[in-house]
Amino acid sequence: MLRWCRFRLVFFMAFGMASANQLRAQKAPESPSPTAQGSALFVSNCAACHGSDGRGGERAPDIATVSEIQDLPNSDLEEIIRNGISGAGMPAFNSLSPEDIKGVVAYLRILQGMGSVSKLPGNPYAGEVLFFGKARCSSCHMVYGKGGFIAADLTHYGIDKTASQIRNIITDPDEYLPSSRPVTIVTRDGQKITGMIRNNDNFNISIQTMDGSFHFFQKAYLKQIHFDYHSLMPGNYSSTLNDREINDLISYLMNVGGGGTHDPGQSHLKFSEPR
Ligand code: HEC
Ligand code: HEC
Repeated sequence: MLRWCRFRLVFFMAFGMASANQLRAQKAPESPSPTAQGSALFVSNCAACHGSDGRGGERAPDIATVSEIQDLPNSDLEEIIRNGISGAGMPAFNSLSPEDIKGVVAYLRILQGMGSVSKLPGNPYAGEVLFFGKARCSSCHMVYGKGGFIAADLTHYGIDKTASQIRNIITDPDEYLPSSRPVTIVTRDGQKITGMIRNNDNFNISIQTMDGSFHFFQKAYLKQIHFDYHSLMPGNYSSTLNDREINDLISYLMNVGGGGTHDPGQSHLKFSEPR
């Protein structure tokens, strides 16, 4: 035990700086970008009538591809949203703040301007909110420096992947990520530690645990090394997330590494600024 502690200390000294920085990045407040908020507002207030892509439904017309509406200035769109169109079935959204309405218009401009939105299986902005929120992907994965570091950085992961490749991993990581199984070691004094292998040779093994710290062991002092059957990546996303949410996450990963603004606090999505 004492020996193990000493090794651990050395490793902390070596990796301490990086770990501390990463932890700070992980704990920084993760507010969604303004456009992501506009997207969430559009989904909850407008999509039921105008469709999630704005191209119209049974209850309301297309407001994405119709040129008369594309040509309206932002101020007119804001007024239509605030006041509605009485007698025509378009409700007034005067309970939304002026900033919220601007966000909705910004997102509507994206739906109007970027054809690629409709090629994605879902909504990348909603996916961004899920990634850092409810789905907790960011507790293990990083995108543009925000998030956890126990698993792969996913910033550029999705650019060259198909939707179904990404869907397979999210819904069945045990099957599609054979190399991601964690290891559990048991020391001679019975202590159990689970993490990802970072280095492994005939005499030594080092493991990174979920909190980001490295643990270094001499194999001679271990009772057991056990490769876990299950991936560290949660295996139940197909029951905790619905199809739409999974499609939104896929769309986020397919889009995020493609460019866009790199200002801190801004979305990194390819079409983060309306054209
Ligand atoms: C209950 C259904 C409903 C909801 C919810 C709704 N709309 Fe509408 N919207 C309509 C209908 C119906 C029209 C067509 C009105 C008309 O015929 O002039 C319309 C028209 C519009 C127009 C076009 C006006 C024009 O000049 O033709 C815009 C822009 C618009 N809606 C934006 C939005 C936005 C943004 C939201 C969410 C904040 C939203 N709508 C929510 C039903 C809805
Ligand atoms: C508890 C930690 C954890 C969480 C939470 C998690 N993952 Fe993972 N994920 C992993 C591990 C471990 C791997 C295996 C390879 C590695 O180290 O990246 C992995 C691999 C992946 C890969 C493949 C990466 C590659 O390089 O092959 C994708 C894509 C992925 N995860 C997406 C997601 C998404 C999307 C979410 C949220 C819905 C999520 N993960 C949540 C731990 C996690």
